[in-house]
Amino acid sequence: MKFFIDTANLDEIKEANALGILSGVTTNPSLVAKEGVSFHDRLKEITQEVTEGSVSAEVISEDAEGMLKEAEELVKIAPNITVKLPMTLEGLKACKALTDIGVKTNVTLVFSANQALLAARAGATYVSPFLGRLDDMGQNGLHLINEIATIFDTHGIDTEIIAASVRHSMHVSEAAINGAHIATVPFKVIQQLVKHPLTDQGIEKFLNDWEQANK
Ligand code: E4P
Repeated sequence: MKFFIDTANLDEIKEANALGILSGVTTNPSLVAKEGVSFHDRLKEITQEVTEGSVSAEVISEDAEGMLKEAEELVKIAPNITVKLPMTLEGLKACKALTDIGVKTNVTLVFSANQALLAARAGATYVSPFLGRLDDMGQNGLHLINEIATIFDTHGIDTEIIAASVRHSMHVSEAAINGAHIATVPFKVIQQLVKHPLTDQGIEKFLNDWEQANK
């Protein structure tokens, strides 16, 4: 499983990129709004920082025509822009049209296996099931990842599954176990993944022992 970072914050992207673990970035309108910057300017900055991995940029139109117009402008920003589309009838139409002209797509707000299958058949490069939001309403987000992975595997579908709405480190390892190809992870969770109390204790002991021996 690969890592994307789920943020529009440039410092977080730079820091995660420096770790050498990053294969891409996902943004959404809420994340961009939090930054208080122009969407297109920020996408330019992000694509300069992450030059090869996929950078998902979400449309806000609700009709396919509007989505395609937005997509036309978004893909001019950089070759690694992936157009993020909502899981709706109009989103599917736009997905098919963009797939036909070779534009990469990420169908977002996926909450059922059937939605994922439809998106895949419309040609989606990625589907994004939202783990945390399903868990919040008492459903099992990881079970959904498993269902989608099983269906894609059974039917030879090469659309990649992005585990999204990741809230904690267990989501990450469990998403990998259940067949997600990618997890898009907030920076805070990336930091949590690094930490283990025994690692910290181990470092402290090694340093103490070193100091004792070199007194
Ligand atoms: C995915 O691409 C979305 O940006 C994101 O994971 C949504 O997560 P949230 O439920 O924490 O808003």
